Amino acid sequence: MIKRAAAPPNELQDFYNNALFYAAQAHNGQLYAGLPYVIHVCMVADEVLAADRKRPFQNIKDAVSIALLHDVLEDTPVTKEEMLRRFEPAVVFGVDLLTKKEGLPLPDYLNGIKSGGSDISAVKMCDRIINLQKPPAHWGADKIEEYYDESVLILEILGESHDYVSKRLDMKIDLYEEMFMKK
Ligand code: NI
Repeated sequence: MIKRAAAPPNELQDFYNNALFYAAQAHNGQLYAGLPYVIHVCMVADEVLAADRKRPFQNIKDAVSIALLHDVLEDTPVTKEEMLRRFEPAVVFGVDLLTKKEGLPLPDYLNGIKSGGSDISAVKMCDRIINLQKPPAHWGADKIEEYYDESVLILEILGESHDYVSKRLDMKIDLYEEMFMKK
């Protein structure tokens, strides 16, 4: 029989794995670019970890957990109440702020994230850094431009939360424009 650890998660790796297991179960069966969806959240979490080495987050354990869980409320049937049984209220609060609400205009959504503090704001920018990849084949020029404009707004509203992350997002936005918009 496999014994469970007696102590609650303590080190950053424990928090990472705890959140990753939860996200992997919640997103089970969903895909990201044809691969298991958790690939996406791991990439966002790794972006957060790399940024933390350049300029420390206020609470990196929470920030990494939020990064790994950031799409659970938006894209799976899991509820806030269920998450609160497993995670700190600050983590669930962060995930909830990152969850797009039906009918909420983008600036309001982003200002809500900003109100949650610099860590949550930086996680949102990390998510966009990862998502600024080659657009799906079915996207037209309008959709690509809309995604570009959205990304610029994310940088505008959340940029001051983390200088290293904002520089990286700025660079990714330029690259996106260069590669997929200029003809
Ligand atoms: Ni995401």
